[in-house]
Amino acid sequence: MKNLYNLPLTDIATILTQELQGKVAHEIVEFKVLNPDIATSTYNGKSITVKDEVAIYRGYQTWLDLAHILKCRMLTPKVLDEHFILMRYEKLQNDSFHATNANTEEKYGVESIFSEIHKNEEAGFLHYFTQALQNAKLSSRKRILNLGINSGDEFDIIKKSLENFEDYELVGIDYCASAIQEAQKKFHDDKNIQLFEHDINELSSLKLGKFDLIISIGTLQSSNLNYKQLLQSIVQNQLSRKGALILAWPNCRWIDGEMIYGAMMKNYNFSEMSNLYSDVIFAKKYLQQKKFRVTITGKDYIFVTATSILKD
Ligand SMILES: C[S@@+](CC[C@H](N)C(=O)[O-])C[C@H]1O[C@@H](n2cnc3c(N)ncnc32)[C@H](O)[C@@H]1O
Repeated sequence: MKNLYNLPLTDIATILTQELQGKVAHEIVEFKVLNPDIATSTYNGKSITVKDEVAIYRGYQTWLDLAHILKCRMLTPKVLDEHFILMRYEKLQNDSFHATNANTEEKYGVESIFSEIHKNEEAGFLHYFTQALQNAKLSSRKRILNLGINSGDEFDIIKKSLENFEDYELVGIDYCASAIQEAQKKFHDDKNIQLFEHDINELSSLKLGKFDLIISIGTLQSSNLNYKQLLQSIVQNQLSRKGALILAWPNCRWIDGEMIYGAMMKNYNFSEMSNLYSDVIFAKKYLQQKKFRVTITGKDYIFVTATSILKD
């Protein structure tokens, strides 16, 4: 067992990086640190004397951050005594769904790793999505369109949030046949939900009319879509005069059961956010020009929420 309780974080990161290099996926690294429950209202880095020895205080958030930075899962620590715990990191396997061999449409299908993700169970997603729905005044939006709906997670939350849900009209679109079938099964009894297996590039051919709220989560960055043209087209052709938008981009990767903070970009082996910021700022500027009030929120997903400032 390694004693790391009296070392600065720089040394701890170096030691663990070296140790993890020699490990295979799902092997565990254990090390002794100060029990965070020993103190309260304390910032990381404070020296605390325990039995004549100096130990450095760190809370669980930094241990969790470090685990993800080192591509590990933080396991439940073991309590060694009233002052110390055994921190345990399990090395992750690199099974991101981005590496899938499935055809383009089924990349996010029911057989994909993506289908094992339940975003609504991630606090870092759920909180900001719910907040965006409130900011967009969901209850006043009678017709709602979701582009890239997959199996319908976003509609689950909307359904739970609305009192007279059956009075609303919801339309979801995705070109992934198996995901749409899954959504159809889930919402079988909801006659106010229509789901289309359809290419967003051909949206106009569905002749859906205008919507009071358009949502698109984790879809606009898809390489088969021309994001800027698509955004302009949906604002001009699919959104009602005083409609609202909620757009979101992932600022995370899904690896071996963990949602790891930070967007990934081709040709970088670390998280790089230029594309993400560029897309978000394009949306903000364009929507402001079109007379929307725009907010940017979120953490693991970045939300752009736009509501019209036009008077009646
Ligand atoms: C990363 S997933 C996000 C799904 C869902 N919104 C979520 O966050 O769980 C992107 C979705 O967009 C769909 N998609 C990508 N390009 C599309 C297109 N051109 N037409 C229709 N659906 C598309 C994919 O099939 C996939 O279901």
